Amino acid sequence: MTHDDFMSKLLKEQRAENFQKPFDHVPIRPEQEFLDVMDKQIGGGTTREVFSVRGRDDVVIKRVKAVTPFNNWCEYIVWNAARATRWASVLAAVEMISHSGQYLMMERLSPLSADDTSNAPNVPYWLNDLKIANFGKTSGGAIKALDYAHVNLGFDLDEALPWQVPWRNRTD
Ligand SMILES: Nc1ncnc2c1ncn2[C@@H]1O[C@H](COP(=O)(O)OP(=O)(O)O)[C@@H](O)[C@H]1O
Ligand SMILES: [Mg+2]
Repeated sequence: MTHDDFMSKLLKEQRAENFQKPFDHVPIRPEQEFLDVMDKQIGGGTTREVFSVRGRDDVVIKRVKAVTPFNNWCEYIVWNAARATRWASVLAAVEMISHSGQYLMMERLSPLSADDTSNAPNVPYWLNDLKIANFGKTSGGAIKALDYAHVNLGFDLDEALPWQVPWRNRTD
């Protein structure tokens, strides 16, 4: 499949707009912008501490305490791509990440209660750490994953449509 075939397939499926290039990436900003607005700690897991944000009740800041900021970068990369897909609605949106990746600003969700469990949406196959603490809900009641740093992309990478490199058969 050539790049043109690929784009016309997406066009037929009316998904092309989502995947057109260039696609602006989620902003990467100086650490200071996060430090300036970080407020109280509201949660924590094995790799991150999570803080409320001064002047905003719709986002949190996630600070990596592990040696490398892999988890924040993973969510950044996944959100950057998944926001244009059918799975965007079950992932907490990432607003921005810091230069090093130590700080990440994410849509704020509230913890789930036992009453919410019957509303759980299906999630993509690549999402790997499905414990309930890794999910939350919006003020409208939509349930989303808030920790998607554990992914298994092997199956989905394997399923990718092949396309032809533009220089195939070039003789000059
Ligand atoms: N977007 C969010 N909104 C509200 N609370 C959050 C959000 N992200 C994380 N938290 C809280 O902080 C905890 C730890 O965050 P998590 O992303 O799971 O970090 P870790 O990688 O350490 O497991 C979560 O279990 C949840 O209680
Ligand atoms: Mg977690």
